[in-house]
Amino acid sequence: MITVIGSLNMDLVINTSKLPKPGETVMGKEFKQVPGGKGGNQAAAIARLGANVQMIGCIGKDAMGEVLKKSLEKDGVDTNHIIEKENISTGVAAILVEESGGNMITVAPGANFELTVDDLNSKKDIIQNTDIVLMQLETKMDVVENALHIAKEAGKKTILNPAPAASLSHTFLKNIDILTPNETELETLTGCETDTKDQIVNAARKLINNGISEVIVTLGEKGCIYVTENTEKVFKAYKVKSIDTTAAGDSFNGALAVSLSTGENIETAIEFAMKVGAMTVTTEGAQTSLPYKEEVKGFNTWLKEREK
Ligand code: RIB
Repeated sequence: MITVIGSLNMDLVINTSKLPKPGETVMGKEFKQVPGGKGGNQAAAIARLGANVQMIGCIGKDAMGEVLKKSLEKDGVDTNHIIEKENISTGVAAILVEESGGNMITVAPGANFELTVDDLNSKKDIIQNTDIVLMQLETKMDVVENALHIAKEAGKKTILNPAPAASLSHTFLKNIDILTPNETELETLTGCETDTKDQIVNAARKLINNGISEVIVTLGEKGCIYVTENTEKVFKAYKVKSIDTTAAGDSFNGALAVSLSTGENIETAIEFAMKVGAMTVTTEGAQTSLPYKEEVKGFNTWLKEREK
C-alpha cells in the first residue's frame, strides 16, 4: 500500500497562445475544469498504474470537493481518509497553458491548508501500515514534517516531491529517503546554482549531507539526474511533443513509488517514471493526462508513433 498525503485542487485551465506578462491581458482559448492538485494527481497516477493507494488530504464541503473525491474513487484510490472541512473552499489552481506546453500555476490552497497535525495524528495507524509515503508541499509545512516523522519512525520509505519550491530545515530533511526536486526547487533548497550537471550534483550532495539518502533531480526535456553520496547517473528524457506539462512531475513521482513498491531497484523505477512522465506531457490537463498501466506496457510502440 502506498499512502499519498497532500493536496486536492480543482484546476481552472485556460489554453493560450502566449502567457501574459505582469500587468498584461491576453485573450485565451478554451477553458476547462480538471481534477488536479499535486497530491490528488500522484494518487490517481498510482491507482492507474495498478498499485493500492490511499489518500490523506482535505476538501471543502462543496461541489468541487465532491467532484475531486468521486474522480479519485473512480480511479480506484481509497478516499476514506479525505477529510471534508467546514466553511472553506476546496483548493483551486488557476492554470495558463501555452502552445509549447509550458504553464503558469497559482494555487489558492483553501481546504488543503486546513489539514492539521492533529488530523494526521488521528491517522497515525494508516501511515504506519503502509509501505511508502509520498508527499509534496501544497499542505502546511508542520503537517508534512509531522507525516515524515511518523512514517520514518515506523520504518517506512518516504518520498518528498518538494513542490512548490521551499527551503527545508535539517530536521525536515533527515526523515526523507528520496527527494525529487526540479532544478528550480533544488536551487531554493540549497541556495546553490543549478545550471550545469556538476552544479546540480554538488547541490544534491549538499542535501545528502543533511541526511537524505537519494536525490532525483528532474530536468524536464533534459531527463533527470539520480544522485547518492557516491554515485550519480543521468537518465535521458524521451523525445516526445509536449502539449501540456501539467502533472508530469506528479505522474513521475507516482510511478516511482509504484515501481519501488513492487520491489524494483531505483534505476528501474526511474526508467519507469520517465516513461510515465513522457506519456503525461503529450495529453492535456492534470488527472486527464495520467496514463494507465496497460498504456505504459505498450510504451515502445506508443513512442515509435509519437517520436519527434
Ligand atoms: O503539479 C500540477 C498541479 O499543481 C496541478 O494539478 C495544480 O492543481 C497544482 O497543484
